[in-house]
Amino acid sequence: MSVLRRLGPPSVGGATEGAPPPAAGAEVDAVVREVLRRLADEAADPHGPAVEEMVDQVLAEASRTYTRAEREAILAAARDEAGGYGPLDPLLRDPGVTEIMVNAPGEVYVERDGRIQRTPVRFRDQAHVLQVVERILAPLGRRVDESSPMVDARLPSGARVNVVVPPVSVRGVAVTIRKFAPDAYRMRDLVAAGTLSPEMAAFLQAAVDARLNIVVSGGTGSGKTTMLNALSSFIPADQRIVTIEDAAELRLQQEHVVSLEARPANVEGRGEVTIRQLVINALRMRPDRIIVGEVRGGEALDMLQAMNTGHDGSLTTAHANSPRDLMSRLETMVLMSGAELPLRAIRQQIVAAVDLIVHQRRDRDGRRRVESITEVVGMEGDTITLQDLFAYAPPPGGGPARFAPTGLLPKALDRLEGGGRRVRHLLVAAGAAGAAGGRVP
Ligand SMILES: Nc1ncnc2c1ncn2[C@@H]1O[C@H](COP(=O)(O)OP(=O)(O)O)[C@@H](O)[C@H]1O
Ligand SMILES: [Mg+2]
Repeated sequence: MSVLRRLGPPSVGGATEGAPPPAAGAEVDAVVREVLRRLADEAADPHGPAVEEMVDQVLAEASRTYTRAEREAILAAARDEAGGYGPLDPLLRDPGVTEIMVNAPGEVYVERDGRIQRTPVRFRDQAHVLQVVERILAPLGRRVDESSPMVDARLPSGARVNVVVPPVSVRGVAVTIRKFAPDAYRMRDLVAAGTLSPEMAAFLQAAVDARLNIVVSGGTGSGKTTMLNALSSFIPADQRIVTIEDAAELRLQQEHVVSLEARPANVEGRGEVTIRQLVINALRMRPDRIIVGEVRGGEALDMLQAMNTGHDGSLTTAHANSPRDLMSRLETMVLMSGAELPLRAIRQQIVAAVDLIVHQRRDRDGRRRVESITEVVGMEGDTITLQDLFAYAPPPGGGPARFAPTGLLPKALDRLEGGGRRVRHLLVAAGAAGAAGGRVP
């Protein structure tokens, strides 16, 4: 909560008789700045009791008396400023906030329950935002300035931070922080949230266990990483997993996990480690499964090759608007690797590698949903053929959309039903038992 909100709006002579008007933002800022100056002078621990002592000192020297509520508000603001990330601290502490977005000093938004809301939180000015940004970056040895105007970082809590400074960000320093749900969603949470049906979840469990290669697709914030994490929980505990990410977001429950994180070049332009290099390296680490947080570029080729060469059961995500769109995006990504493969060969690679697509969407109201579980079936001529196994759609007779199996049987049915697994009953549309003659026997 902002200083202003903690204190209520600055009163315009409306204070009750005898009581001093509540401290306005500027006055609080002045007190807090003085407290910070004294803390710095004495090299006091900004997390310790010195903050409270200094606040009382400064208030005692002030020309007027402060109410208990004012003192509390000033103390909270001073603590936030001294030890942490200033106005962002209360938002970072608020477990209901999943995302924090600073567009301008006086324009801070959060996401709560999937909805974006403006907050009353304010920074004093642009320099104040930068000061907080520097506090985030300094311990990581990173910096952001005109010559490297965009930077990714991570808070000790694991939250991911992206900063863009002017002139690239036209209106001012833009900060985006993605926090993590305190506990990663498990598949049962996603079912409870209405993201997919219990049958779809059971089917995906079988698919992971059967080592199908799965790509989760969808737009930004559609819940791809969350789904990837939930899928990973179905990997048996005795398998060795190597995860590769830009910024480690996955929270795997298994013990036998090696997590690799890419990193950008340092200030001198050296030391970059790409996702692609990590995928290639992971192959030498005897993984049973490789999980790549997101494929965006040339690493797609290495990922497909890994999927095709004995690392079945690998999982990744990619940005796409539909399963069909995912196919063409993967093609483009493979081309970005510089491999001079004919399009048909690339498509064959994709078909051979990817078994299933879990396509997600984020509705305007913030709900996330699995739009379809789609199988990559094969090629007809030069075209990749896809078939939906489950879809969120209106039932054939009309009515509101719901999750339902399409009734088609997967090409990978034998693999899915190996090892005593049963999926057939999940794939039969309710009321359509007996009519489940899929296109593919
Ligand atoms: N099924 C879901 N229901 C509700 N919120 C979700 C769901 N999946 C993800 N979220 C929330 O949405 C945000 C973005 O999720 P994330 O998995 O990182 O998306 P993506 O990887 O597609 O960008 C996170 O704050 C996450 O907690
Ligand atoms: Mg993601």
